[in-house]
Amino acid sequence: MQMSAFRALHIGAQYDLIPITPDELKSGVAQLVAKRYSGWNVTVPHKASIIPFLDEIETAAKVSGSVNTIVVREGRLCGYSTDGYGLQMSIKESFNIDINEGRFLFWGSGGAAAAASAHFVNSGAKEIILVNRTVEKAQELKQKLQEISANANIAVYQPHQLSELAVVMKKVDVAIQSTSVGLNSADPISIPLEILCPSLNLVDMIYSETTLLGRARKSGLNVIDGKGMLLHQGVKSFEIWTGKKAPVEMMREALTSNGR
Ligand code: ATR
Repeated sequence: MQMSAFRALHIGAQYDLIPITPDELKSGVAQLVAKRYSGWNVTVPHKASIIPFLDEIETAAKVSGSVNTIVVREGRLCGYSTDGYGLQMSIKESFNIDINEGRFLFWGSGGAAAAASAHFVNSGAKEIILVNRTVEKAQELKQKLQEISANANIAVYQPHQLSELAVVMKKVDVAIQSTSVGLNSADPISIPLEILCPSLNLVDMIYSETTLLGRARKSGLNVIDGKGMLLHQGVKSFEIWTGKKAPVEMMREALTSNGR
């Protein structure tokens, strides 16, 4: 996806895949700098642990404690999270809903939900609802989000509060499945189907078709997987690195033909 964008804009850059274990992160970052990489993405499990090695970090990434894009500017390492933007664009493309017009429910309160919900609060979402098995983690995320905007409207629920959640689901514009449940085909369905109403828009951040998505689609919901988010987080990373508008359709084509 990134290579096709570089080629399309005649930028002589190389996007490499470099495995780095958690133990090697500090020396790995030093090596990337020594090799004069202009920027890079990091993914799980480095999105939080890379932060101490950065010189600057944008607000939403700082609050959520999650970075996926680094650019080197005059020798300084600057960190961003483009995951929230990726989700924003995916929702806009598929459901034609703008963040500042919507109420969003995040099922899960881990790193993925934190990065995206921080961007959503920063962009003026009307309401954010956090649902998490470990309620303390959702409360902690709520507090962090409230640091971005003290006036933000944020509610916390636990997955077993089914009757309350069935009511909540009726007023949200988009529900976002952000837990890791569903990554394996044998996983149970994370969100109980009985609380999903047919008018709901549902995103599963997982890139492939999950059992949840299949069942929800059959029940008439509008559903999308995480591929649109993957595309648009990459688009934003490209624009941060190059300062140029990304060739979105070319990147989409590359992503699709890659079988992701
Ligand atoms: P990521 O960066 O992918 O978000 P993470 O930070 O480890 O990964 O967060 C994983 C999320 O999936 C959390 O919301 C986690 O819930 P807890 O905070 O209660 O652990 C959720 N999750 C993982 N396995 C789960 C399961 N079996 N049932 C319910 N939630 C689960």
